[in-house]
Amino acid sequence: MTDTLPAGSVIRSPGAVRAMDARLRAVEARLAAATSTNIGFPGARDIDYRPLAPLLGHLLNNLGDPRIDPLYPGHVHDLERDVLDFTAELFRAPPGWSGYLTSGGTEGNLYGLWLGRTKLPNAVAYYSSAAHYSVPKACHLLGLPAVEVTTTASGQIDYTDLTRKAARHRSRPAIVVATIGTTMTEAVDDVTDVHNALDVAGVRHRHIHSDAALAGVPLATTANRPAFDLADGADSISVSGHKFFGTPVVCGIVLTRRKPEELSPTVPYLNTHDTTISGSRNGLAAAMLWHATTSLGATGHADRAERAREVAAYAVQRLHQIGWPAWRNPLSFTVLLRRLPADMATVWPLPTQGDWSHVISMPGVSTSHIDALVDTLAAYGSNPD
Ligand SMILES: Cc1ncc(COP(=O)(O)O)c(C=O)c1O
Repeated sequence: MTDTLPAGSVIRSPGAVRAMDARLRAVEARLAAATSTNIGFPGARDIDYRPLAPLLGHLLNNLGDPRIDPLYPGHVHDLERDVLDFTAELFRAPPGWSGYLTSGGTEGNLYGLWLGRTKLPNAVAYYSSAAHYSVPKACHLLGLPAVEVTTTASGQIDYTDLTRKAARHRSRPAIVVATIGTTMTEAVDDVTDVHNALDVAGVRHRHIHSDAALAGVPLATTANRPAFDLADGADSISVSGHKFFGTPVVCGIVLTRRKPEELSPTVPYLNTHDTTISGSRNGLAAAMLWHATTSLGATGHADRAERAREVAAYAVQRLHQIGWPAWRNPLSFTVLLRRLPADMATVWPLPTQGDWSHVISMPGVSTSHIDALVDTLAAYGSNPD
């Protein structure tokens, strides 16, 4: 029996192979069953990535600076550069910009704060209480003194509080993380207002990082976009790839307005510069992002974003029809609804904070998903209080 296996195969009993097969089928069935109620997290699911399956036969490792092809031949730096060019245009990067594909929004935030600390070693970091938990974590890793700023009721950073707190450290530079789509309410901090708040505080030197994990790409394709990108005065900006692009592997993109030479030691044995945090980087993710950006283009992504917002507006309207409190921030996919009854929360895994839960109508979430939720809620009566 063993000599029918291809060379290099691990030798297993037929029973063990069947058991593995059954295990994988069970995982797949569990994932498929979860999709109908999995509308609380920001992963799009409308783009088909299966055309990339042949690449699974290769180890794709994008080592080092994407602008330089490394000695290792199994890279797709060319595809990575296309994704970066697409994103740089979207985020209106000035000449001299640089960037790379990250392991996700968390690494993008760490990189943005690292750039800030390298440029401004004596800086104090500021972020709102609605910032993602990766932001205080990155400050801790970098040894950056950090100050939390309050938010308005909708989740936007409170500029008056930012001014007040920054004024206490006005002799020191500031690194501010503006959140472009907060995790819970998808509120968007305005980079122009952040600059104004620092001006009023008397802080001269600054680095603004836009954490645009979810909302950066959809907002960039929108006519009336708020101020958040590199042309608006952000020094660095990061997004997650698995959120709006819905790549089936977690990944992200980070861009900065300048070439971070001080972070770029040469690595002679790889024939490249080490401009990134992670060293070996996921080439398969680069191919997936290339697929998403090249096959749809900016117009295709603008359409996806617009349709998703229509579903979000529909969700608010349907919830109001049954008397269930609900609201959303302008242009957002995220709909806040009064928290679910406890027994429903086990079937519908919607993130909840205080009195509010949320659904996120990412591309791929349809009105029938919303109808199923609202019809179930309607059975609880119109007044959740
Ligand atoms: C605002 C914000 N920033 C950063 C992140 C982290 O992104 P990732 O999960 O890609 O590391 C998230 C994730 O939910 C987020 O909502």
